[in-house]
Amino acid sequence: MDGSVFQDGDDIHEYLAKHERKDMLRFLTCGSVDDGKSTLIGRLLYDAKMVFDDQLETLGSDSKKFGTQGGEIDFALLVDGLAAEREQGITIDVAYRFFSTEKRKFIVADTPGHEQYTRNMATGASTADVAIILIDARQGMLPQTRRHSFICSLLGIRHVVVAVNKMDLKDYREDVFRGIEDEYREFAKPLGFESITCIPLSALKGDNMLTQSPSTPWYDGSALLPYLETIDVSRKDDQPFRMPVQWVNRPNLDFRGFAGTVVSGEVRPGDEIVVLPSGKRTKVERIVTRDGDLDMADKNRAVTLTLADEVDASRGDIIAAAQQPPEQSAQFQAKILWMDDEEMLPGRQYILKSSNRMIPAQITDLKHRIDVNTLKELSGKTLKLNEIGECNLSLTQRLVFDPYKDNRQMGSFILIDRMTNHTVGVGMIDYALRRSKNVHWQALEVNKESRQTMLGQKSAMLWFTGLSGSGKSTVANLVEKRLHDLGRLTYVLDGDNVRHGLNRDLGFTDADRVENIRRVGEAGKMMVDAGIITLVSFISPFETERQAVRERMDENEFIEVYISTPLEVAEQRDVKGLYAKARKGEIKNFTGIDSPYEAPSNPEITVDTSEVAAEKAAELIVEYLDSKGYLGN
Ligand code: ADX
Repeated sequence: MDGSVFQDGDDIHEYLAKHERKDMLRFLTCGSVDDGKSTLIGRLLYDAKMVFDDQLETLGSDSKKFGTQGGEIDFALLVDGLAAEREQGITIDVAYRFFSTEKRKFIVADTPGHEQYTRNMATGASTADVAIILIDARQGMLPQTRRHSFICSLLGIRHVVVAVNKMDLKDYREDVFRGIEDEYREFAKPLGFESITCIPLSALKGDNMLTQSPSTPWYDGSALLPYLETIDVSRKDDQPFRMPVQWVNRPNLDFRGFAGTVVSGEVRPGDEIVVLPSGKRTKVERIVTRDGDLDMADKNRAVTLTLADEVDASRGDIIAAAQQPPEQSAQFQAKILWMDDEEMLPGRQYILKSSNRMIPAQITDLKHRIDVNTLKELSGKTLKLNEIGECNLSLTQRLVFDPYKDNRQMGSFILIDRMTNHTVGVGMIDYALRRSKNVHWQALEVNKESRQTMLGQKSAMLWFTGLSGSGKSTVANLVEKRLHDLGRLTYVLDGDNVRHGLNRDLGFTDADRVENIRRVGEAGKMMVDAGIITLVSFISPFETERQAVRERMDENEFIEVYISTPLEVAEQRDVKGLYAKARKGEIKNFTGIDSPYEAPSNPEITVDTSEVAAEKAAELIVEYLDSKGYLGN
């Protein structure tokens, strides 16, 4: 048996080049320190004369790529992608360890086991063939046993080892073991694992670790290591060819190749392929690698393809078998595991990342949550840390994908928070929603420009944001009057008013405020399209939503006016008497009191009405509009 020491990324390429990929087993251990997880891994590796390697741990904690890709591990991809991932600030703490016996090579994903580390667990699970689920014989099944099993099944692991550990502390009693085994098998029935193997263990004493233990004569199954050495996880991979483009390789004018890792199927020179999303078809000319050209490349192989025709493709495009292309849709249903302390907000824009492509996306509908203990469906409006839900998503562009059940990598994604850059969720795509295919844009002949010309103005959205009582509506109202007097067509969308109609169904939870702003952003956009100078006056407390509206607009159409009047002043004014009520606890989630306000980081205009009179502020804003040419001649 030997352990492997890696100095840097290059050695991993070499390691992979040297070792047959097919006889490599990837497994994951689920459980907490208390269950004896580190002892188990430690003993497995120690008894196998494995040398722990710190270098690798560093790589491991850098190995976000694994989880983020959701598919099979590709080390070349990993190493090449590290810098980019680091820039994104995604931190998932998974240590991958490599070791081998005479029979097999192993990669074990070692993930911290506390509840809050579900995301690490999911990261490890997304690439594993086998999950070892640890249960302390004294405790039996715990909620986290159920959660981890559910996540393993969700992420497509087909083989589970239930390691009933610390049997020595239960005098190696068969009834204890069988009790846990029965309960687990009953629980896991609906999860659809292909195999469940229960092993009574004492990791500490070494029972049933490398060989069958005399302490459990009633157990006639395999010990842990022999099991791992012999389990057959191969499944005929009849998935069609897919390769996400990692980068375009163009060392000189004569060579242009598309580099990436084959995530499914096989490819040969002469094969007909399609590049998506462009849909351009051509043939594969050469399969280039460092060690010369190949006749065939299969799953997990990192290659550079050259194509018969000049085709434009860039990072994140998918090269696929022309006869069996993947799907494309901007709307689909997916299961999402939420991994952030901040709850998921339907309507908020997140960045969806899948196969190297990043696309802004919204969760339009949380259909239901899933109770991981009972596997029952629960209703709910948001997902909290570690919760799992069935969701509809809507993207600003179409995503090229396969359903997760067919292709783990092509069917998985992560969601990234736009402000914090944290990975907040992982998702598994179930299927495309047909409606996105059937709704098309209606082309209209009279357009925004023609309306603007007719009105002699340039329409725009003046977005007033600030605390309740800061003076937003007062200033907006005065600006509108001035513009009206100048003969300009205007309209004011005011929070209090819109909440009586279009947004009557919304309250003041974070989720409702997100939806409130999304809707008024859409309504305002239509007004700007109609040629109207539109004034929007909403608290709009979250930067992400204001930013999302800004991005929905054309350039120079969104003018953010931050009414920066301090809380003390707004509260002292308390025109509507709401602050007093909020202080007494009669109103919940009041902005500035027990609900946050995120000040704009880059507003076009800032006005503090405790320093500048509202009339003066309005004058300045109109001057700004005039100087930028919005008011025409
Ligand atoms: S937003 O946060 O979703 O943008 P919006 O501007 O629509 O808020 O509505 C804010 C107005 O609703 C306030 O000016 C106030 O009159 C009223 N209001 C009632 N309850 C609350 C609350 N909990 N927080 C803030 N405003 C509230």
